[in-house]
Amino acid sequence: MGQEFTGKIYSDWMKSTQEKKFKEIILDFILPLKGKVDLERDRVLDVGVGKGWFEKKLLERGIDVRVTGIDVEKTDMATKGIDFIVGSGDRMPFQNGSFDFVISFDTVHLLRKPEEIERVLAPGGYALISTHCNERNFKKKEQKLKSLFGLKELKEGIVGDPRDEMSYVVLFKKGP
Ligand SMILES: C[S@@+](CC[C@H](N)C(=O)[O-])C[C@H]1O[C@@H](n2cnc3c(N)ncnc32)[C@H](O)[C@@H]1O
Repeated sequence: MGQEFTGKIYSDWMKSTQEKKFKEIILDFILPLKGKVDLERDRVLDVGVGKGWFEKKLLERGIDVRVTGIDVEKTDMATKGIDFIVGSGDRMPFQNGSFDFVISFDTVHLLRKPEEIERVLAPGGYALISTHCNERNFKKKEQKLKSLFGLKELKEGIVGDPRDEMSYVVLFKKGP
């Protein structure tokens, strides 16, 4: 009963706040990557994939993404197209440079070794990472997020609702 209740709260929250964030991420960051990243063909990894809500949003826009998703907790996926692996983003069972595009939304603060993301990213690959923030702390969060990686920053911005919850998003590239 408790779990069902928690699940409902999570689903309702997802429908409002997280949905708004993902819509903005797709419009501001994903669609402009057309020609550089092909979500249907490239090797894509989602670290802390959760239920795969982001992939669901992509699918709703007609982007038939194929993603490897890793998360410490196994839950039912909200959508198809995700090869799910139970595991930690701190020690990923992938060789160096295995992915062309790594995404990780609102999870990086839970990782002890975020540099793993950089390791599994192929040279020339892109990483799109977000972290929770609010109107008071976003500068701090921005600096912290950027300090975690030795990657080139290409684009950044805030998504979400200032009255509720926001995320700071940075698009990185590995290499020149
Ligand atoms: C706030 S949720 C975000 C889920 C999803 N990215 C989203 O935006 O809907 C954080 C997720 O990170 C996962 N997580 C926590 N620690 C992790 C770790 N060390 N490695 C991989 N995933 C982790 C949690 O299980 C949870 O699914």
